[in-house]
Amino acid sequence: MWKEKVMPMTIGLVLHMPFVKTLLSYRTGGTIESKYCYSVWLRHLKMFNSVRNGVPKRVAELGPGDSLGIGFAALLSGCESFRAFDVIKYWNVERNLKIFEELIILFKNKASIPDNTEYPKVQPQLDTYEFPDKILSEEILKESLSESRLEAIREEIKNPGNPRNTLVKFYVPWDDYKVISPNSVDFVYSQAVLEHVEDLDGTYVAFSRWLKKGGIMSHSIDFKCHRTTKRWNGHRTYSEFEWKIVKGGRMFLINRLPYSVHQKLHTKNGFKILKELPVITANDIPRNKFSKRFRNISEEDMTTSDAYMLSVKES
Ligand SMILES: C[S@@+](CC[C@H](N)C(=O)[O-])C[C@H]1O[C@@H](n2cnc3c(N)ncnc32)[C@H](O)[C@@H]1O
Repeated sequence: MWKEKVMPMTIGLVLHMPFVKTLLSYRTGGTIESKYCYSVWLRHLKMFNSVRNGVPKRVAELGPGDSLGIGFAALLSGCESFRAFDVIKYWNVERNLKIFEELIILFKNKASIPDNTEYPKVQPQLDTYEFPDKILSEEILKESLSESRLEAIREEIKNPGNPRNTLVKFYVPWDDYKVISPNSVDFVYSQAVLEHVEDLDGTYVAFSRWLKKGGIMSHSIDFKCHRTTKRWNGHRTYSEFEWKIVKGGRMFLINRLPYSVHQKLHTKNGFKILKELPVITANDIPRNKFSKRFRNISEEDMTTSDAYMLSVKES
């Protein structure tokens, strides 16, 4: 076990040096590719439609990463506005524009949703990956892909931060739920983000403030070690001190919190869970090798390596 920890801790130590951080060029995840953005948005939209009909009007995304492409896909589906919240601004106008133009083609062609063969790690998995033409009818697409609307979105992408923008707005960093009005959002989603969030309690409070009553949340969470050990759940073997070293000077890494913490935070903040799709992966590390904090977690927490959660704000 100790041998497995040496390399990640060494990398963490190097990352404590500020000049190293500035030399690194980050890529956060998949939103650097338009097909990924298309696939992820249409998965969330399909899950939304398992409990509501149609396209949500006002959507918010936590942690968009390398581009705002998932939100652009939401706008191209007919959502009225998109709000993005991150702690670091990874995207730039050029990449956003490129992804936007590629997404337009995917929507115009009604391309199938890229599935597990293309994105084997992306959750949630769907029963079918055909283009959802019952949700995105000809009528909806005619309006959402009209030249005037595309041009309006394009203009806002070219001028991020313009206070007159209404379709696309971002908040980076966001450190207070008051950055947007309460009850102003119909749908909140995130993809591979909640496992990174340091202040998970505060973030669930924000979700609850932003969403109107009856609003829907859709989150895909990856509980695996994110390359901090060889075993998928080895990150929970590090002591608190060792974990600080692994984290290095990074603003965030992973919070190591297990699935049940999310279940509890849903309930605590007035959300009713409508759908849970955990992915169960065997644990092959003896319990006594885990750090004290994680040694006694439930068998469900111990073996949940990914989870998709769909919920409604009840109160
Ligand atoms: C693994 S990336 C995923 C990016 C993108 N959602 C995707 O699917 O490729 C994690 C993202 O979460 C963001 N993040 C981490 N902590 C956050 C927080 N407290 N609030 C908002 N975003 C956060 C990171 O900056 C990064 O953009």
